[in-house]
Amino acid sequence: MALETIYDTPRGKHVISIDQWRREAVETLFDQAQRVAWMYNEQNGMRPILLDWLRGKAMVDVFFEPSTRTSTSFAQGERFLGGIVENVTGVKFSSVSKGESLKDTVRAFNCYSDLLVMRHTKAGALAEAAEVSRTPVINAGDGTGEHPTQALLDGFTMKQRFGGLDGLHIGFVGDLVNGRTVHSLARLMSLFDDVKISYVAPDQLQMPKGLRSKLEAAGVEQSRYSRLGKKLLGDVDVLYVTRIQKERFEGKKAQNEYEKLKHYFVIDSKVMARAKDDMILMHPLPRVGEITEAVDDDKRASYFKQMRNGFFVRMALAAAVLERPFTVSAVRDEMRVQSGKMV
Ligand code: NCD
Repeated sequence: MALETIYDTPRGKHVISIDQWRREAVETLFDQAQRVAWMYNEQNGMRPILLDWLRGKAMVDVFFEPSTRTSTSFAQGERFLGGIVENVTGVKFSSVSKGESLKDTVRAFNCYSDLLVMRHTKAGALAEAAEVSRTPVINAGDGTGEHPTQALLDGFTMKQRFGGLDGLHIGFVGDLVNGRTVHSLARLMSLFDDVKISYVAPDQLQMPKGLRSKLEAAGVEQSRYSRLGKKLLGDVDVLYVTRIQKERFEGKKAQNEYEKLKHYFVIDSKVMARAKDDMILMHPLPRVGEITEAVDDDKRASYFKQMRNGFFVRMALAAAVLERPFTVSAVRDEMRVQSGKMV
């Protein structure tokens, strides 16, 4: 299946990079995710509710790198929608460990599924997989490359809080060179108007120049900092903190470097006291000391909300990619059937 470069809708398409998405496609997905979230709203007393939007569809979710949230939210979301799900984790128990090529591995999964969700160690691997795949492929993280579904759930979380993404000032903090979540989220932000991005990282972990140039061409106002200063903290609407990506520091020398950098930024209550009252603090998780637990009770801490939203966004995305009906009336009908009452 050809890898489409830019689309208005992900229906029947691969999801490899945020570069493929137009603003309209993102907004439609947010609306659909909002419907799923509504369905799961505890106040409706309807949780968990099973829909059949993926009934008769088979998915293979393959994770060649560790994952907690992405793999579980995809698999559970697909199951909740009635899909047949196979979860493959680790290289060790697949034929990849025998030396099989990525392309042949994809061809094998194609025989048993309608959708392939894959996480791989190598940047660019998912584009390669998409080239040969006969079914849509969703990138669940390709090395230091991208993590488009994380960016979509991050954007959705911002939309819930601010009503939209236009005009937001976002501060990215941490490992911006290796962190794939920020590579996708910066791209996503560039689809919106009057967005400002501040990159806060030591020199060696700064946002790659190629990506900065691309965003500059898209008209995004960008600045770089090596410290999280008071002025910047008092201005951002979103502070997006990331983990220093230990697994990307290969070799003894690099590991020593990691040890020096791992606690370069720590967000604690003192830091949060200098941030705006109506800002939000985000993190894709897992955190390994970048945000202290004391901050969790702060009303601005939004990382657990992101985690939950991942479930809704990935359900909406799987249904959209597989071209399943996804309407409010379908939700209402289903709720009526499930509850025996009108809603
Ligand atoms: C991120 C990832 O895998 O890139 N985790 C996630 O999917 N939520 C972030 C990270 O590992 O630091």
